[in-house]
Amino acid sequence: MKVTLSGQACGAEVTGVDLTQPLSDEAIANIRSAWLEHHILSFPDQAVDDDDLERFTRYFGDFGTDPFFDPIEGRQHIAAIRRDADETSPLFAENWHSDWSFQAQPPAGTCLLGITIPPVGGDTLFANQHAAFDAMPPDMRAQYEGLTAIHSAQMAYAPDGAYGEQDEGRSMAIRPDESARETQTHPLVRDHPETGRPGLFSCLGYIIGFEDMAPDKALPLLQQLYVWQSREEFIYRHKWQANMLVMWDNRSVLHCATGGYDGHDRLLHRTTIAAYQG
Ligand code: SIN
Repeated sequence: MKVTLSGQACGAEVTGVDLTQPLSDEAIANIRSAWLEHHILSFPDQAVDDDDLERFTRYFGDFGTDPFFDPIEGRQHIAAIRRDADETSPLFAENWHSDWSFQAQPPAGTCLLGITIPPVGGDTLFANQHAAFDAMPPDMRAQYEGLTAIHSAQMAYAPDGAYGEQDEGRSMAIRPDESARETQTHPLVRDHPETGRPGLFSCLGYIIGFEDMAPDKALPLLQQLYVWQSREEFIYRHKWQANMLVMWDNRSVLHCATGGYDGHDRLLHRTTIAAYQG
């Protein structure tokens, strides 16, 4: 197995492993340790199918619970990230986020398999939140350390949210629901559960405020934080290929989708890896 660093703020490419076949314990341990170190791993030229995607996901934990999406037909744990060539609805996941951070136990990771990849555009951006925390000036750090963030899916998946009832013509099977208004809290600055490395967890969007802080004080803090978290020096730009499997660590990075492929189909299959149980 060969791990080649992206040369950017995080991310590495892994070759010399065949994901269409069951992996040895040693290979799984090597992948896990590269994932924890580089936060995003991409595996190019893997002719994997949905069975292989599920088997690969389960090497790293249980499946996560995926609300607000219908799974693809015949599978319980695979969702399609899809956009059709003629689609005009706003791009899915264009804002920075950490997947399902509004859950009590958000998924440790996400796996995404490139199936139909447009010839231009459609890159996924990742922002390293350990680096973002490390580089914070002390006066800024003092504004955020010790805060408990309130997370909710309401702005995205409530019936009046971005993907709610007014969202028409979308090819993805998104199912908004009143349960999106529920809230959960997590420390904003927290140690990674496996590496112990401190970082910023999630961002404005799924974070809707801070405990014991008035909304008019919390919002500017969240906006300032969002700009900091997504500075150029923390970013890895991932370029997709068909038959490429990518896994990322939601505890270490934010990610967002980019457009630029109007007139082309884009389809990826996605699973989530449940929270680490130790
Ligand atoms: C996602 O946020 O799960 C999708 C990212 C992408 O489509 O690039």
